[in-house]
Amino acid sequence: MPLDWIDMPLIRTTGSDDIRDLPPMNVIFGQSPMMAAARVKLERTAETLVPVLLQGENGTGKDIFARLLHARSNRSKYPLVKVACPAIPHSLIESELFGYEKGAFTGAYATKRGRVELAHLGTLFLDEVGSLDISAQAKLLQLLQDGTFMRVGAQESRRVDVRLICAANENLRQQTEDGSFRLDFFFRINAVTIELPSLRQRAADIPALIDYFSRSPLQGISSQSEAAFARNDPHDAAVQLARKHPPTREHGSQLCFDWQRGGPGGGLDSVCLGQPDPRD
Ligand SMILES: Nc1ncnc2c1ncn2[C@@H]1O[C@H](COP(=O)(O)OP(=O)(O)O)[C@@H](O)[C@H]1O
Ligand SMILES: [Mg+2]
Repeated sequence: MPLDWIDMPLIRTTGSDDIRDLPPMNVIFGQSPMMAAARVKLERTAETLVPVLLQGENGTGKDIFARLLHARSNRSKYPLVKVACPAIPHSLIESELFGYEKGAFTGAYATKRGRVELAHLGTLFLDEVGSLDISAQAKLLQLLQDGTFMRVGAQESRRVDVRLICAANENLRQQTEDGSFRLDFFFRINAVTIELPSLRQRAADIPALIDYFSRSPLQGISSQSEAAFARNDPHDAAVQLARKHPPTREHGSQLCFDWQRGGPGGGLDSVCLGQPDPRD
């Protein structure tokens, strides 16, 4: 049976607006060699159709990178559709991703397009892809192989043109060994892997982050910087540090030095928990 190209009105993307909210490139990438390598990969792959896997701990900038990849692609005027995989119950993930036909199940009063269709001509971003169940992985594999999928309850396949970006904070290879992640799907989604270093691995960039984020509003931040470092969130860590200390670049450099000297975790108490600096 012939596959029909879906007839979809263009969905206005907010991608180009969002990109202006991101920190400047020199802040995002900083000075560390690992970020330089990530930048080269981003630039080489942004304009291709190659699926990209963003791998890194929480807070290492996977969301930022997904937005950059989309914004720098020739798909940027089409939607970037994000799916926070763990936020969607397993029982709903297929209808959420692929949509459903009217009457497909109790409560399906009207046909609904899924996120895959909404991303037509644009980019589909699967965040924390490791939490997808095997059945959804199989259907996404099909989509990657020939661009086709079926709405839940549909008789016919549909075809879309989407570029896939995935993010993972856990070890997917490990998951392929314990059987919770399909090996063939794993190979498909990581044609290119961009490894994002933890804040611990790029401590030299902390002063620039402090400098940048200390200019942004500080309201509403309640967590401690130690916790922010622990979960690698440069935004929160920088804001917390700037709160405790005068937010200057020089001070940031000293904080960074103290922190490195103490080692990951070790130097945080003296640096972040508000003890006066003897040089002050
Ligand atoms: N390289 C970076 N440069 C500047 N800010 C960053 C960077 N990486 C992360 N952040 C900031 O840290 C916070 C968490 O980043 P996010 O992209 O959501 O991480 P992830 O998706 O990996 O959990 C955000 O406020 C983001 O702006
Ligand atoms: Mg994220």
